[in-house]
Amino acid sequence: MLSVTSSLFPPQKSDMGFTTKLTRERCAVVTGANRGIGLETVRQLTKEGVVVVSTARDEKRGTAAVAELKKSGLSNVVFHQLDVQDPLSVASLAKFIQTQFGKLDILVNNAGISGVIVDEEGLKSLNIDPVNWLSGKATNLVKGVIRQTFENAKECVDINYYGCKRVTEALIPLLQLSTWGATIVNVSSLRGELKRIPDEKKRKELEDIESLSEEKIDGLLQRFLEDFRRGELEANGWSMMLPAYSISKATLNAYTRVLAKKYPDMRVNCVHPGFVNTDINWHTGTLDVEEGARGHVMLALLPKDGPSGRYFDQIEMSEF
Ligand SMILES: NC(=O)c1ccc[n+]([C@@H]2O[C@H](COP(=O)([O-])OP(=O)(O)OC[C@H]3O[C@@H](n4cnc5c(N)ncnc54)[C@H](OP(=O)(O)O)[C@@H]3O)[C@@H](O)[C@H]2O)c1
Repeated sequence: MLSVTSSLFPPQKSDMGFTTKLTRERCAVVTGANRGIGLETVRQLTKEGVVVVSTARDEKRGTAAVAELKKSGLSNVVFHQLDVQDPLSVASLAKFIQTQFGKLDILVNNAGISGVIVDEEGLKSLNIDPVNWLSGKATNLVKGVIRQTFENAKECVDINYYGCKRVTEALIPLLQLSTWGATIVNVSSLRGELKRIPDEKKRKELEDIESLSEEKIDGLLQRFLEDFRRGELEANGWSMMLPAYSISKATLNAYTRVLAKKYPDMRVNCVHPGFVNTDINWHTGTLDVEEGARGHVMLALLPKDGPSGRYFDQIEMSEF
């Protein structure tokens, strides 16, 4: 772990006379920031003058990414290890932020996995038109080259949904101390859009903000995993294009709305970054990471009176 320089974070006097570490700068945490859109989000936020804690589950990959940023002249970035699946790692990050900054202003929950095993050569040889890929028309076409075991599905839900929840719950007390007006950005996907879930009952369950709760979302995910285990996904109306990934993002969107309702003083939103050329889609994406990170950064820097509990397709507000 790198230590934070004292010139960047000067100790300050509290009202009670003793020295606290509370810093005036706007501070952010970005998860899954060692590559892809997360890394680019760190770059863009630091350029905006935000002090960023860049996190990654692998210490070596994470420190290397931060070293590259520093080499390019960006100084207001530090690394801290964070595996969103590991509660001890999450607690250690929260403690680090508490000690170094005394509060947090921005949380970008970006870490995610596709949760599938892919024959990359086979996928490339199919030469799927991005339009068919995005619309879900290629679902049957990719069946021969994309596999998902029950363990893969569980890991996908645990990282994409519960990982975000673990980190958010640990950092909420620090976000509540923000004087800038805290923002949370949950990185979602168009795969999580409600219109892509074939079963109307499930769509309604995730859509009804009045009755939506974390317990309801848990229940839905348990039913999904049970249907997956029994081989009954299609029969029970779950999305068949990257099933675990799709439901992990649909529930992440629902969680975003629950959080926004629970914390009206914060701006809590979710965003589809676009179809971006990164490892997660085996470089089938068409946008570069600069474009992909634009929505993250726009939502991270929302003013206090900005929207909350909304879903964005890149930088445009869209329908859940
Ligand atoms: N690219 C797209 O077209 C697209 C479209 C829609 C949504 N998204 C979303 O955008 C986000 C970023 O994806 P990307 O395209 O930048 O993909 P990526 O290049 O594969 O990056 C994913 C990042 O998440 C990290 N990660 C995975 N599991 C983690 C864990 N348990 N703890 C901490 N970090 C973990 C990875 O770390 P390691 O290097 O250690 O694996 C990596 O840094 C994801 O949430 C993804 O679902 C992407």
